[in-house]
Amino acid sequence: MADRRAQTKRKPAAPRKAPGGRRAPAAQRATAAGRTRSTAADLAKQQRDISVSEFFAKNRHLLGFDNPSKALLTTVKEGVDNSLDACEEAGILPTVRVEIHQVSETRFRVAIEDNGPGIVRKQVPKIFGSLLYGSKFHRLRQSRGQQGIGISAAGMYGLLTTGRPVLITTRTGRTSEAHQLELVIDTRKNEPKVKRDEVVPWDREHGTRVEIELEGAYRGGQHSVDAYIRQISLANPHAEITYVPPRAEEHGASHVFPRVTDAIPPETAEIKPHPYGVELGVLMQMFRDTRARNLKSCLSGDFSRISPRTAGAICGAARVAPTRRPSEISREEAEQIHQAIRKAKIMAPPTDCIAPIGEALIEAALRAEVKADFYAAVTRRATVYRGNPFLVEAGLAYGGDLPGEEPITVYRYANRVPLQYQQGGCAITRAVTGTDWKSYQLQQPRGALPIGPALLMVHIASVWVPFTSESKEAIAHYPEIIKEIRLGLQECGRRVATHIRRRRRDADEAKKRAYIERYIPQVAIGLQKILELSDGERDQVVANLADVLARSRKM
Ligand SMILES: Nc1ncnc2c1ncn2[C@@H]1O[C@H](COP(=O)(O)OP(=O)(O)OP(=O)(O)O)[C@@H](O)[C@H]1O
Ligand SMILES: [Mg+2]
Repeated sequence: MADRRAQTKRKPAAPRKAPGGRRAPAAQRATAAGRTRSTAADLAKQQRDISVSEFFAKNRHLLGFDNPSKALLTTVKEGVDNSLDACEEAGILPTVRVEIHQVSETRFRVAIEDNGPGIVRKQVPKIFGSLLYGSKFHRLRQSRGQQGIGISAAGMYGLLTTGRPVLITTRTGRTSEAHQLELVIDTRKNEPKVKRDEVVPWDREHGTRVEIELEGAYRGGQHSVDAYIRQISLANPHAEITYVPPRAEEHGASHVFPRVTDAIPPETAEIKPHPYGVELGVLMQMFRDTRARNLKSCLSGDFSRISPRTAGAICGAARVAPTRRPSEISREEAEQIHQAIRKAKIMAPPTDCIAPIGEALIEAALRAEVKADFYAAVTRRATVYRGNPFLVEAGLAYGGDLPGEEPITVYRYANRVPLQYQQGGCAITRAVTGTDWKSYQLQQPRGALPIGPALLMVHIASVWVPFTSESKEAIAHYPEIIKEIRLGLQECGRRVATHIRRRRRDADEAKKRAYIERYIPQVAIGLQKILELSDGERDQVVANLADVLARSRKM
């Protein structure tokens, strides 16, 4: 019923013929120029709410579903991100299985299964059947997901392209039953519709399996699912990932990416916003929402790193009484406080809210990925952009098997998730091309990626990663972030430059040595002639000179 009403409403208001054959009102008549004019009242009839799912169904490219091969990748990625997040939050070493079954030429069935904490039965429909529903949006804590769109969008794309519901199997522990649900998303209302709901036998003690059927394409290359799986396992050495590619029977069964470490990334704390960079509007909203009784306790209680003393100093500098009730603070006063915050000396945010991969594991990951002559890894200290703590890590592999005549390969990561699309629009790329690699002994065309046998890995970890779009493919160009990346790259650059210079010096020396070695017999023959040496004495000269050369190497 509601649906039908919505449909009739949707029709554009057609020019009506008034009863008695009179002509339509002037405002709706075609004008002299042949255009139809609508009145405000006509427009009012067409104005109505748009549900988020209707919006994203039309704008699916914003979520990473703009072509079939990307749709397949995005679906796998959303599922795996969620599995890793859920396991880590529950303190479980993740064991994840990704299966892609090819159903027909253009149709695939993707399954992602984890050993995570499972999902409470009551929550399943909302999580998979409505957009913008999740546990991560309203908090400042490092996780792969943050928006509450990911998996429901993948399910919606599957439904739109194949008409098939999402299949979820989940169990929360040995003493609970496993539930299996089939559900679809009602895009008009952004609400789930449960098609089937039963208790099933399942050999897993706890975990979740999600299956989505979709129109897709399975391709190779840097944007492929295969590349994603390899890169995500590099940045998540604590996870075991089993990957069953399409037509596994043909392509050599499944691949297992084993766990490299048994250490789960350190648990990250949820934090309050850091005051530096907080926007005026956000500050005013915080004053309205706070439970604190007065301004001073609001400042020290709702922000990180503001002590009661600093809070008092901020009130003083802003000339607003510390005892003021936050909800009664005027816009002007809020502005004064905002400015006082900017000028106040406030400690950097706590770093326990961010879990870096760490220099040792980055280096180990690079070693596992490529055989190079030299490796370097740098983890920078945490700092802030717009009040959000973040941290940059960079790793570089150089030489060895890497191809020398091409632009270097850059692996970009945000909160341990590889970013495969929109390389050109990403802050990481901007920082790489903006670094002067010539001073680090690499060739670099103006404003482009450096050229040479190198693989660069850059990771940004933050409680809130500023992506340029909902599809989470590229990082926005915040100057603070670009600066930190550049500092990390420069550190790697300095180390690789030392290595390259040393290698060049060694190569130079080896060349000279080879030259001298070649002429030692000639010198001995010359001496033999001038000094009338015997053959034995000549050979002794050769041996002596070779010995001098060898000893000079030891020096
Ligand atoms: N495999 C899983 N195990 C346990 N909980 C899950 C799992 N998958 C999803 N969830 C829960 O469902 C919520 C919604 O997931 P969804 O992917 O839609 O959004 P998100 O991960 O919060 O953010 P994003 O849109 O950035 O991915 C999550 O926040 C999480 O609480
Ligand atoms: Mg997610």
